[in-house]
Amino acid sequence: MGAEPFDVAGAAEEDLRAVHRVMLAAQAVDRPDEAPLTFEALVGALRTPPAGFGPRRCWVLRRGGGIVAIAFANFPEAENGHLSLVTITVHPEQRRQGVGTAFLRDLLPELEGRTVVEGWEITRGGAGEHWATAVGFRVVNTMVLQLLSVAEVDRATWDVPAPAGYRVEDWAGATPDALLGSLAWARNALRDAPFGDIDFQAPLWTPERVREAEADLRARGVDQRMVVAVHEESGDVVGVTEVEVRPHRPRWASQRETSVLRAHRGHGLGRCIKAHMAWRLLADRPDIERFYTTTSADNTHMIRVNEAIGYRTVRTLVSVKQDVAVLASHPGVRG
Ligand SMILES: CC(C)(COP(=O)(O)OP(=O)(O)OC[C@H]1O[C@@H](n2cnc3c(N)ncnc32)[C@H](O)[C@@H]1OP(=O)(O)O)[C@@H](O)C(=O)NCCC(=O)NCCS
Repeated sequence: MGAEPFDVAGAAEEDLRAVHRVMLAAQAVDRPDEAPLTFEALVGALRTPPAGFGPRRCWVLRRGGGIVAIAFANFPEAENGHLSLVTITVHPEQRRQGVGTAFLRDLLPELEGRTVVEGWEITRGGAGEHWATAVGFRVVNTMVLQLLSVAEVDRATWDVPAPAGYRVEDWAGATPDALLGSLAWARNALRDAPFGDIDFQAPLWTPERVREAEADLRARGVDQRMVVAVHEESGDVVGVTEVEVRPHRPRWASQRETSVLRAHRGHGLGRCIKAHMAWRLLADRPDIERFYTTTSADNTHMIRVNEAIGYRTVRTLVSVKQDVAVLASHPGVRG
């Protein structure tokens, strides 16, 4: 039987439980350092996918009547309208029997005309990377996953005063009107960060897109926090860091983009705003247990900033990509 669309909202509990069994067993093999995924966290993650990557569709593959694999495809919009971000997970007991490859073959025609597929956050050196290269993907970036454990950190490392000439501001949710224009501009500095040869482009932020993204996160029940560095002389935002806390994982803070405009780099603003974020979030949400973030392995500045405030690297990840047409005609996939 081929790939079947899986409607997360309408799925029967029995099928959700089966998907959970696949994801939990895969996690134990592929990401053994992680705390085991609970059923509630999985359902929450299925219902509240990360924002910023367009609509998501899911499929399952059954063998002998049971679900043995699940796939997600995101369809990002605007500058990424040619891309689909795909993740396929096969139950470890069903691996090396052609399931993952058969699933990919079924999905390629379902990708709504997208011409390039990317797969992200694949454990380096694991089954995912071996499989991806065997079916024709290219490894195009290497990332590190870093974790800050609040119980273990020395909070003195978060005492980082603003450098002379700058002040720090923070908020939850809506950006103050007075800072909206310069915030949008400063967020675009993320486009300078190295992301290897991936096709995905960070959004080109405008005030309207910032407001749309805020509304999207609000609708998903995400607590979005911003800390910014303001240049006193101009009154402009010149550095930004964003954290999101998702409703199904209220004790985990996802540290997302951090960017400082080129003209203001080298003053320690990145460390200052990230450290302030840690203090600020903990003050409001003392039950936060961990921050986690991913950064390109060659982004040595950001990795060093993270380490200075208590992050440690827990895993190395790769991103892969390939044209849909190349995958479809690859001897391993064509069958
Ligand atoms: C990646 C994954 C989907 C592959 O599923 P699978 O059903 O085992 O893959 P297939 O049986 O179709 O493998 C096809 C070929 O890929 C290669 N391959 C797959 N797993 C491999 C491994 N662990 N080591 C080396 N080569 C491997 C082999 O060439 C294999 O052919 P062979 O078994 O005849 O030698 C599965 O390992 C998984 O769920 N991993 C975790 C999630 C993940 O990382 N997904 C990444 C893709 S988005």
